[in-house]
Amino acid sequence: MAYLNENYLKLQAGYLFPEIGRRVQEFCAANPEAAKRLIRCGIGDVTEPLPPAAVSAMKKAVDELSVRETFRGYGHEQGGNFLRSKIAQLDYRDRGMEIADDEIFVSDGSKSDCGFILDVLGDRNRIAITDPVYPVYVDTNVMAGHTGPADESGRYEGIIYLPCRAENGFVPEPPNEQADIVYLCFPNNPTGAVATRAQLEKWVAYAQAHHALLLYDAAYEGYISEPGIPRSIFEIPGATECAVEFRSFSKTGGFTGVRCGFTVMTKQLLLQTSDGRELPLHRLWHRRWSTKTNSVSYPVQRGAEALYSPEGRQQVRGLIDYYMGNARILSAAAARAGLGVYGGKNAPYIWVRTPAGLTSWQMFDRMLHDLNVVITPGSGFGSEGEGYFRISAFNSRANAEEVARRLEAASFS
Ligand code: MLT
Repeated sequence: MAYLNENYLKLQAGYLFPEIGRRVQEFCAANPEAAKRLIRCGIGDVTEPLPPAAVSAMKKAVDELSVRETFRGYGHEQGGNFLRSKIAQLDYRDRGMEIADDEIFVSDGSKSDCGFILDVLGDRNRIAITDPVYPVYVDTNVMAGHTGPADESGRYEGIIYLPCRAENGFVPEPPNEQADIVYLCFPNNPTGAVATRAQLEKWVAYAQAHHALLLYDAAYEGYISEPGIPRSIFEIPGATECAVEFRSFSKTGGFTGVRCGFTVMTKQLLLQTSDGRELPLHRLWHRRWSTKTNSVSYPVQRGAEALYSPEGRQQVRGLIDYYMGNARILSAAAARAGLGVYGGKNAPYIWVRTPAGLTSWQMFDRMLHDLNVVITPGSGFGSEGEGYFRISAFNSRANAEEVARRLEAASFS
């Protein structure tokens, strides 16, 4: 008899986005006319074509592979040095953060890394997670057996939940209890909130005092426009000894389909063994990659490298500005519709209060059926997300403007 991983049986319903997809598909099948005017502002998936610099680099890489003289097989399991050195130099060292090339680990995206990281972390850690939250952090811990069952509100036994509410600007304070691992995401998905330097300093101080590890998801750092807001946890002194950072090319270079991201793990980061020794996590993470993967395809890594060229950087800037233009249009429309609006300033997500009396899923249905617009119900991100919904700004300008018109024309009273 072969046994399955029963931890999976503790998971709530389906993963949020496939579940939304299922409901939308059902709606479209039953309402073919309305389906024609459907606009998707649910999952944060990019709509605009890849930056030309990445396209030509990927084509050139394929050409290299097509002739004997320049053909390559396996690359470094941790990613090509050509890409790791660009990342370390341009994203970190040029901005005053001492990150070495071999502290960059290239992957197929930060979603994967957020799950993979559990391979090198122990099972007895107390996990703290913000609420609402990107569901991957919670679900991967459930799958790994780090939690008990969920209660009626969907909260899992054993997890420390850190409420993110309008009253705390959606940025939680460190808890008054021991957490060993804390997941933080700024700019935040789903709320669009950013953490100030002072707030991140508090988190680093907490990690130092509690020998905790911060898992910092900075997938949306490129969207920060406000001066003084840190774009990396490593801008905070001491973070190299207590944090791991995840980054992605999905929302900068439009790589949601191409797939590429990276993790920054410094060699100063030490974690404990059960017999009290302190060892670099880097050694385990390096070993994990050597054993389990052969990194990301060569053309994709060359495409990612091209995003760091002068043209690539300009084209990425253009994409971010485009989506943030949508965010402004959508935020303004939701506000004019009389709804409470948050986020959307340093992030491509707008976090909106549902009209009085409507739950998040009721608002999802209302938007789908009456406005033919797909949004993400806030409660899908955690119990503190109840009473909110998320509008993604990843869309064409024409669609963003049309959603804005429909929102303003709707009556939510
Ligand atoms: C989202 O919509 O929250 C994101 O697109 C999901 C992801 O990046 O995996």
